[in-house]
Amino acid sequence: MATASKSKRTKKSSAPAYVPPKKLPISFTVNGQEVSTEAPAHTTLLYLLRDLGFTEVKNGCEAGDCGACTILLDGLAMNACCALGVQAEGREITTVKGIGTVDNLHPIQEKFIEHGAIQCGFCTPGMIVAAKELLDNTPNPSRQEIKAGIAGNLCRCTGYVKIIDAIEASAEELSSKKGKGK
Ligand code: FES
Ligand code: FES
Repeated sequence: MATASKSKRTKKSSAPAYVPPKKLPISFTVNGQEVSTEAPAHTTLLYLLRDLGFTEVKNGCEAGDCGACTILLDGLAMNACCALGVQAEGREITTVKGIGTVDNLHPIQEKFIEHGAIQCGFCTPGMIVAAKELLDNTPNPSRQEIKAGIAGNLCRCTGYVKIIDAIEASAEELSSKKGKGK
């Protein structure tokens, strides 16, 4: 018995040696800032952005279900978890921090605060980005169009009514600013 188990232990493994995945160079911009990095081809854009420090892009489901990771890619809202980092090559990415900052809030962000559309806040970055794309393309949306615009973004806290109110108020604010030429 002892001889048999010793021979098992000394038997050479036929498994191939681990080869780390090759990293590919990727360059793009995030909120106007140029980024050059490298990552394996299978790395999602969500992981790539978060690893680079853009943690305002939230990781909720990694499956395209919740919208927490919503970013603008060349102005179009999309789920960062559903794209590969290498697909960002040469593209322009906007996260919620590119829409407005704590010191210089965008009207959408102001209205979310005023209307109590933020509770835990986990959905908020993606929700704001989705609202921005909606209002860029549909400046005066109906409530139905607002619901459609944020259909890919789940919120576990607010019940959506306050979020829809906030986006509606943002549209009014942005239209009135535009009317005044601001
Ligand atoms: Fe991307 Fe949920 S983390 S959709
Ligand atoms: Fe908590 Fe939306 S505020 S998930």
